[in-house]
Formats: sequence, C-alpha cells, structure tokens
Amino acid sequence: MKEGDSKQGCLAVKPRNIGFEEATSAAYGGLLAFQYLEKGNITHGQNVLIYGASGTSGTIAIQYAKYLGATVTAVCGPSHIEFVTSLGADSILDYTKDESITYLEEYDLVIDTVGKRKTSELKKACAQALRGNGKYISIDDGALLLRSDRLNKITELVELGVIKPVNDRVYPFEQMIEAHRYVEMGHKTGNVAITVHKTT
Ligand SMILES: NC(=O)c1ccc[n+]([C@@H]2O[C@H](COP(=O)([O-])OP(=O)(O)OC[C@H]3O[C@@H](n4cnc5c(N)ncnc54)[C@H](OP(=O)(O)O)[C@@H]3O)[C@@H](O)[C@H]2O)c1
Repeated sequence: MKEGDSKQGCLAVKPRNIGFEEATSAAYGGLLAFQYLEKGNITHGQNVLIYGASGTSGTIAIQYAKYLGATVTAVCGPSHIEFVTSLGADSILDYTKDESITYLEEYDLVIDTVGKRKTSELKKACAQALRGNGKYISIDDGALLLRSDRLNKITELVELGVIKPVNDRVYPFEQMIEAHRYVEMGHKTGNVAITVHKTT
C-alpha cells in the first residue's frame, strides 16, 4: 500500500469487539498515532515522549508505543495523570508544573500532538531532549495520511485488546454545537464522537 492512498481515503473492517462510536475514535486518533510512531521507527527498549498524551491521538500513541516495547513518558495536565497512567505510560509530566523540565531524559522520539497552538517552555525543552538520532514530530509537520494498511493494523490490535479507544462523551448529531463547545474547552479525555442515525 502506498502513501498515495490518502487521495482515495482508506477502508478497513470495523473491530468486532467495539461499537461504531469507539471505532471512529480508534480510526481518527489511531491513524495519526501510527503515522507518528512509524515515522519514528520505534523499536523495543526505545524512549518515547508524547506531548499531549490525553487527547485523541495521544491516548492511542501511548498504547501503541507500549505495544512496540518503548518506555513511554506522557505529558498532560493535572486532571489526566491517573488516566494516562491507566493507559500504560511509564512516567508522567504535568505541563502546568515548572519543575517538569527537570525530569526530562533523552528520547528517541518526541511526538507533539497539540502543535503550536498550545506551546510552553516544557514543550520547547522536550523538542531538544533528543538522543543522537532522535526525532521530533509535530502535528504541524504534515497532513494525515489515510492508509488502509494502518487502519487494518488498528482493527487487529483493537480486536487483540492491545488498543482501547477512549471516548469521553458521545453526542447525538442534534447536539453538534454542544459537542464542539466541549472539545474547544481543550481538556477532553481521549475523543468525542457524534452519532448519526439513518432515517428510514
Ligand atoms: N486524524 C487526524 O487528522 C487527527 C486525529 C487526532 C487529532 N487531530 C488534531 O490534532 C489536534 C489535537 O487533537 P486532540 O484531540 O489530541 O486535542 P485536544 O483534546 O485539544 O488536546 C490534547 C492534549 O492537549 C493538552 N493540553 C491542553 N491544554 C494545553 C496547554 N495549554 N498546554 C499544553 N498541552 C495542553 C491536553 O492535556 P489535558 O487535557 O490533560 O490538560 C491533551 O493532552 C487537533 O487539532 C485535532 O483536530 C487530527
């Protein structure tokens, strides 16, 4: 499968063990998380830092990086420390605490899932905290690739129970405005999905 797949969209069978709302989160967050981690070429025993670990792609990036055998440092706000720990992160840094900078190590891959709209001194320091061949990948660096091979891999890992997509809230289509308002508050836990019912 070539990366040019993006132009045609991508397709996979929905994981059998989750509903459509969770499958949407798995696909939306998962495609980006897999794109980051494959670009970083992560192998067993490497050190990965995920900045914005409690959002849509961050939650899946933690789980996939652990599956690949990485040691994962997750950066999030104070209300999500327990949550990202439950996803398997080995250590957590709180972006609201100045002293978090002093706990930085050297990483083979630093993923920034929030981009320049939410920057901080800690993020600048994370971007520098790389090992010799380490990489820094930001959501601002390029478009999402819609790849069916990655979507199929997501289905496989969800069915194996390796990856669990997390929906904070599910809104009916009629409450789209409320859903956007909630997301724009900037602190959802994982993803927010919208249900669209077929009318007969
Ligand atoms: N398939 C795709 O193309 C795709 C998939 C996923 C996301 N995205 C895009 O990626 C972006 C991020 O999405 P998301 O759902 O992950 O984002 P989000 O819910 O807006 O935020 C994700 C992370 O940002 C952290 N955060 C909030 N305020 C912050 C601050 N002031 N400084 C540092 N970090 C802060 C949150 O931490 P706390 O809540 O713990 O404070 C959370 O870990 C969006 O633009 C989205 O559209 C695209």
